[in-house]
Amino acid sequence: MTDESQKIKKEINDGLDDLEKGHKLSRFEGLLKLSRLMSGSLSIRDIRKKAQSHIKKLIECENVLIYAFDEDDKTLSYAHFVNHDEIIETVQIDENTFVGSSAHFQASLKIDEEDNDIRIKRVIEHVQAMNPRSLLVVPLVFNGELLGVIQAINSLNRNFNSEDVEFAEAVAVQLTPIIQNANLYEKLHKQFIQVVEALADTITKKDSYTGGHTKRVAHFAKKIGEQMSLTWDEMNDLKLSAVLHDIGKIGIEDKILKKSAALTDEEFLIMRDHPRLGYEILKNVDSLSRVIDGMRYHHERPDGKGYPYGLKGDEIPTIAMIISVADTFDAMISTRPYRKGLPPMIAYQEIIDHSGTQFSEDVVTAFENWFKSTKMYAPNRLDSKKKAS
Ligand SMILES: [Fe+2]
Repeated sequence: MTDESQKIKKEINDGLDDLEKGHKLSRFEGLLKLSRLMSGSLSIRDIRKKAQSHIKKLIECENVLIYAFDEDDKTLSYAHFVNHDEIIETVQIDENTFVGSSAHFQASLKIDEEDNDIRIKRVIEHVQAMNPRSLLVVPLVFNGELLGVIQAINSLNRNFNSEDVEFAEAVAVQLTPIIQNANLYEKLHKQFIQVVEALADTITKKDSYTGGHTKRVAHFAKKIGEQMSLTWDEMNDLKLSAVLHDIGKIGIEDKILKKSAALTDEEFLIMRDHPRLGYEILKNVDSLSRVIDGMRYHHERPDGKGYPYGLKGDEIPTIAMIISVADTFDAMISTRPYRKGLPPMIAYQEIIDHSGTQFSEDVVTAFENWFKSTKMYAPNRLDSKKKAS
């Protein structure tokens, strides 16, 4: 080989090295970016969502899924949404599936296109739809404890190579403490909600209507909140506000609260004070500061005719307006000792008829969207009712 051709060969090799170094550097930068992106995230769902799309770019593949380990069932689960409905698919931890094997052996594994590995077909339906050809799985393990599995699907370079495996393992090392943190936070938060629910249940002891009512209002409020694309924090605040919305009734005399007949004007005036009483009970609980307004203003109305403060329009927080719709809807469909509950379709129409006056327009739209997706929605029933009247 001449000096000249040796020089050219060296230059080409140097160029390839530089390219590889550049590739590694950009992956390293991507890894740092992932850390920055995740820091401070306490929602498992947010972490999974952000990590999946970021890792997909870094590992250069068609899709990335992060499975979570369920401590109670000892399985791995993957949650995805189809039209607001959460679909959860589970994978057993054993050698039968690729993801299960990775968790079982706590090892990284890969299947190449030409491997003809039977496990490429043994995937959850969500992955089946992605037509998997090459797979890479890496377990998420923190201090020997399994937290989940990362699954990369279909390398854009045909097969995953050893560098991809090393890199995915580096990603797993970055992710595990973040996921562990979020798991601990969620556990604490769950305990906190249970304490709050126990507090709200004390009203059940006084009035059985209010007790069942609280649970239903929390459910309806959640459904409306989901239609309004609230953030994870806002959904949590909404849930707690809904659970606590009638907590002030603890301060109402039993002879009014337990009265089986309709209230007199005077009794109603006392009853109307319950949002303020609730505020007095909870105002010093720091961790509930964001939650209190939803409870305190759940009987306010956009037209200013609500109680006890008579706030108007935007002065009323959205969370309080959601609880207002959920609360009124449940009150209308519930049977009380002195009157029968209304059919849900009639109650639904009442809510729509008072949009913008008693209820926030945005919240009513969200309520309408949710209601129409339920079995309670039966427009024919309303038409026949109208014809009959
Ligand atoms: Fe109330």
